[in-house]
Amino acid sequence: MEQENIAETGLEEQKMGKTVKLPDGTLVPAIGQGTWFIGEQRAKRKEETETLQAGIEAGMTLIDTAEMYGSGRSEELIGEAVRDCDRSRLFLVSKVYPYNAGRKNIFKSCRETLKRLNTDYLDLYLLHWRGAIPLEETVDCMEQLKKEGKIRQWGVSNFDTDDMEELWSVPKGKNCAVNQVLYHLASRGIEYDLLPWLRDHGVPVMAYCPLAQAGDLKKGLYESPVLAEIGAAHGCSISQVLLAFTIRDGDVIAIPRTGKKEHALENAMAGEIELTGEELLRLEKAFPPPDRKVYLDIL
Ligand SMILES: NC(=O)c1ccc[n+]([C@@H]2O[C@H](COP(=O)([O-])OP(=O)(O)OC[C@H]3O[C@@H](n4cnc5c(N)ncnc54)[C@H](OP(=O)(O)O)[C@@H]3O)[C@@H](O)[C@H]2O)c1
Repeated sequence: MEQENIAETGLEEQKMGKTVKLPDGTLVPAIGQGTWFIGEQRAKRKEETETLQAGIEAGMTLIDTAEMYGSGRSEELIGEAVRDCDRSRLFLVSKVYPYNAGRKNIFKSCRETLKRLNTDYLDLYLLHWRGAIPLEETVDCMEQLKKEGKIRQWGVSNFDTDDMEELWSVPKGKNCAVNQVLYHLASRGIEYDLLPWLRDHGVPVMAYCPLAQAGDLKKGLYESPVLAEIGAAHGCSISQVLLAFTIRDGDVIAIPRTGKKEHALENAMAGEIELTGEELLRLEKAFPPPDRKVYLDIL
């Protein structure tokens, strides 16, 4: 997996900036848009819709959602926001509840997600987290949805290394395109074994909570003098340093969420920041990765 400039791929009209290559060769923007809590409050709908649209214009054409978010209201808001977009420019990701990820419910869940999103296919459909339905059944259903043209690719979320091993032992399990997991500077557990495993098997990470929910998940993160100094050196914000850190190696996609246009533009610009080796060492010292197995951080 490599990070490359979209201009070199013949799709120069798109302003994707840095990209990540999925196992099938599809290029997606390294920074996309998360939408948890988006669409839940009527009073914020206009601003949130305009924020998503501004994010798309700024190159964050990958949008992550889930049937869970606002019980479908997040998907509905996205559907409205992208109504006039060229569908081929977008990369829409949604997630199915574990208890819907079997033969009985997944086809209905997917149909309803597509309807709310105003589209006839998803670019990527993820199992939100592991539940009681056997992986074989979920994979079989995902492959069926692919055959029907309802989804282009499928993946998983909140899978630790042992879950990935198990997935790899299931027929067609190796068709998994992405593992979406919690990852930010102050939660680096995946660097010990999961990230190396995914790299060995060519599966990109989609990092959720890349801003640690604006520091709420790690108090003091936004007060770090090291982050402030690195931000000042690049003339950028701490959020942008956090995003640049997350996508630094070219095989991790970050999906920050914001309801504010100015933050969306700021997040999109983070793709232009290159942290130096020395800066990465300073971050490593201030926020060390673990030296032993740490179980997956899950929200
Ligand atoms: N698969 C899973 O189980 C799972 C779990 C959690 C999340 N996710 C996905 O990952 C996405 C991201 O995670 P998240 O939403 O939990 O947290 P996050 O993206 O780490 O943080 C969101 C918070 O950061 C703030 N923010 C965003 N951009 C900012 C900026 N430039 N400057 C300052 N503050 C900024 C937002 O507030 P403002 O609105 O004020 O900007 C919001 O409070 C979710 O939206 C969802 O799509 C997936």
